[in-house]
Amino acid sequence: MTTPHEGEPNGRARPWDADAPHAHVDLAALRHNLALLRGRTAAGVRLLAAVKADAYGHGLLPVARALAAAGADAFGVATAAEALALRDAGVPGEVLMFGPVRAGIAELVAADVALTVALPADLEAIAAAGARARVHVKVDTGMGRLGLAPAEARSLIAAVARSPFADLEGVWTHLASADEPDATEPGSATDRQVAAFADLLARLERDGLRPRWAHAANSAGTLVRPDAHHDLVRPGIALYGQPPSAWLAQRVPALRPILRVDAPVTFVKRVAAGTAISYGGTWRARADTVIATVRLGYADGYPRSLSSRSAAGHRGRRVPVVGRVCMDQLMLDLGPDGDAEPGERVDLIGGDAPTAFDLAADAGSFVYELLTRIGPRVVRRYPGA
Ligand SMILES: Cc1ncc(COP(=O)(O)O)c(C=O)c1O
Repeated sequence: MTTPHEGEPNGRARPWDADAPHAHVDLAALRHNLALLRGRTAAGVRLLAAVKADAYGHGLLPVARALAAAGADAFGVATAAEALALRDAGVPGEVLMFGPVRAGIAELVAADVALTVALPADLEAIAAAGARARVHVKVDTGMGRLGLAPAEARSLIAAVARSPFADLEGVWTHLASADEPDATEPGSATDRQVAAFADLLARLERDGLRPRWAHAANSAGTLVRPDAHHDLVRPGIALYGQPPSAWLAQRVPALRPILRVDAPVTFVKRVAAGTAISYGGTWRARADTVIATVRLGYADGYPRSLSSRSAAGHRGRRVPVVGRVCMDQLMLDLGPDGDAEPGERVDLIGGDAPTAFDLAADAGSFVYELLTRIGPRVVRRYPGA
């Protein structure tokens, strides 16, 4: 499922959206990040944007439309619903399913979606659907998730090439550790994956089986392993302006986060020293202070593990989140001289608050998870779109 968005046919602005948390998605920053990644690839290398999981929580269609208009060539998705949503909306560009499918093959092929084959059984499922699919064969060079090892994958690639139900268009692998500090070092896990894939491509070339599109690089691979770019790169997280890891945050400081989440204050009160706040009374005011309640909670994707452990941005300054984060609400300590108006908005992710990357680290999670868990009650907005 994709989230309804303002500006989409199924997501018109509703009066009560003014009371909701908002995710402001900066499409100009998205274009900046796309250009930055393009600047790392040689001319002629295509760019497939990973827009699975509702474009990492930013909104599939507005993000994909903006990327297509800015020159992204293709889109990578995880589910048939995501692929068909792109096609139904008429977003230009190739669409590739990142995983094999058993159901809906005829519909996907009719919509001109390219399919991934990782096992002989995936090819049999395509044949059983009676469709002629455009196929990319997934090879496991060390990720340990999908695909046969290169030696076995060669015969699968040959079978795809022979099949009357398939057009062999691509061969691909996925890098498991390209965001680790050793990613550029000889003999590292990434180095071995890059070498294994290059070796497979050379063998396919000799056998006359090298398909048009060979691809391996996620954001980290795009940024640090030009020898893994081949014909196409597949960045996701870096397009959204977040580094894949702390190591890459140092190396690529020019990425611009495209997301800011803010939410309205719903209640403000002055409390005496010793007053307990939220479930379990785990936080008590040390001195008289002003507490603001905000309409954002863990059901919206704000991690409960950040209870009394993070900060919001209020009128340009950081104020602590105090007490347990609730399902729909959280509380802020504005300090003894604090002041807020009900309806006033505070930043919770990005903007004057910590970045999604830093909040995720503090929550014991990581930025991909934090972004993709921002829930459907958070209204996505695209200022300037
Ligand atoms: C197959 C595949 N390619 C590319 C990506 C993009 O990865 P990243 O967001 O790290 O750039 C993903 C995401 O995990 C993926 O699963």
